[in-house]
Amino acid sequence: MKKDHGKIDEVHILYNLDDLPGRIGLGHIRWATHGAPTQVNAHPHVDCLNQVAVVQNGIIENYSEIRQELETLGHVFKSKTDTEVFTHLIEEKLKKNLSFTDALRETLNRLEGAFSIATIWVKDPDKIFCAQKECSLTIGLGANAAYVSSDIPTFLPMTKKAVRIESGEAAILSEKGYEIHKIADWSHVSRKPKMIDWVLETAEKEGYPHFMLKEIHDQPSTLRTTIRLQEEYMELMTTFLDRANELYLVACGTSYHACLAASYMFSKMAFLSTHPVFASEFTAQIGRTVTIDSTILALSQSGETTDTLAAVDYARFQAATILGLTNVVGSTLTRVSRVYICPQAGPEIGVAATKTFTAQLSVLAQLALKLAEKRGKLSYQEMKSYREKLKQIPDVVERVIQTQENKVKKIAKKYRDQPYFFFFGRGTGSAIALEGTLKLMETNYLPSMAITTPEVEQGFISDAIQSGAPAIFVCPKDATHKQIVDAIKEIKAKGASIIAVIEEGDEEIKALADDYVEVEEDVPELLCPIQCIVPLQLFAYYMAVVRGLDPDRPRNLTKAVTVR
Ligand code: F6R
Repeated sequence: MKKDHGKIDEVHILYNLDDLPGRIGLGHIRWATHGAPTQVNAHPHVDCLNQVAVVQNGIIENYSEIRQELETLGHVFKSKTDTEVFTHLIEEKLKKNLSFTDALRETLNRLEGAFSIATIWVKDPDKIFCAQKECSLTIGLGANAAYVSSDIPTFLPMTKKAVRIESGEAAILSEKGYEIHKIADWSHVSRKPKMIDWVLETAEKEGYPHFMLKEIHDQPSTLRTTIRLQEEYMELMTTFLDRANELYLVACGTSYHACLAASYMFSKMAFLSTHPVFASEFTAQIGRTVTIDSTILALSQSGETTDTLAAVDYARFQAATILGLTNVVGSTLTRVSRVYICPQAGPEIGVAATKTFTAQLSVLAQLALKLAEKRGKLSYQEMKSYREKLKQIPDVVERVIQTQENKVKKIAKKYRDQPYFFFFGRGTGSAIALEGTLKLMETNYLPSMAITTPEVEQGFISDAIQSGAPAIFVCPKDATHKQIVDAIKEIKAKGASIIAVIEEGDEEIKALADDYVEVEEDVPELLCPIQCIVPLQLFAYYMAVVRGLDPDRPRNLTKAVTVR
């Protein structure tokens, strides 16, 4: 077994990965989820007897209870990963003289979560066993070899003949070919291979024309992951939040907009006073007040944005408590945070942040809920109802994409030649208006402005909007609704074209709007931003496409801003 942390080329130079004996093998590039990116946490993982090896993607939700149980039985774990429970559980079952496939089936049935695995056993050295639950896995069939991978591009240079393994299925690859079974009862599944007509670049985008669109469509799946994050880290973070007298939410760009939305969540749900601050302004704006008693929650997709790290460094120097929320385990932010949470949205390639924004919102909503529970601010019934709604949010987002995408495409075509846009919102909707503006500006180079609706009265209404100007309103049916309706009437009277993101069946706004897209009703205010941003992400994307721009590579922008 050869494994280490670092860039693939560096690990290859150190170990010569080509020089391995045998006819079958497992390889894995780890996007760290549980445990730091270190050699010991790198895959594959093996059992105590070095007989079963496994690589895994995704999350095994109930790993910590299984690990405790197995440790009591004498198993020694080497890593901090969720993955390792898999091998020890099989080992335990093999001890009871189960066949390998029975041990595998029982193990898979015990594991909860969304994951895919590939495993080998020394005593059956010509087979690869694999399985997936809500996590992609595909078999590739070459002339003299079979492959299995989470991503088709890995085997595309060798073969275009592929068979998808569906959720809840396991497969066995051998010299004879492949067999697929349902994990639940091991019944046989018959599925023929298909030819993939993608070139490598399309395959990396899973058939989508751009990464931005793929990543918008990834959101139901990334949100499913975020509602399965490790309880212990959420608990620990909540303990620190509970101790905070006041909380500074510090970030740049899209992450800052997540902070804004979170400030409503924390104060409304958990009665915690929070201050969203631009990282670039942190030292000047509140630097003098930061002390050992201050708590800073820094948000950064990359974990490397210079302004965010500078704010964190300043606060650390004042001995403040640093908490981090970042998509990249092993990033600088994870190293300087007392506790960090990784929403595990997976790599985001498109420069415009999309899936990492909704993943951040989902984690922040969960933290606000946990804190509310800890502080006794919600009744049992309220808590139960929020939890149920949170579980439904990935499906809600999936339906919003399915039902609204074509409508958004048409709206983008209609407004493609407009030279500027206004976005309006209130409450958490104002954070979404800001994020919609940022998405449009960065992918389309169009001047655009977000206004929180009461500010319309503070000078804005003075003829800044001219006839035909597009005004996009975020209109959840919460306490802000009446005020939004009034603002729409006022802006409409100026001759603006009204485009509204409304909840299904909002007849009042439908009657006022020139165009509208619908999100779902009955999504609590706290979670509504997660669905409301989706049509605006799609709008920015389709505007760029109809205007002949590349949404993945906006001019003069990089994914992580590491200069000041
Ligand atoms: C917007 C975008 C940027 C980032 C900002 C912060 O789509 O990508 O505005 O949000 O540069 O980056 P992180 O979150 O990596 O600190």
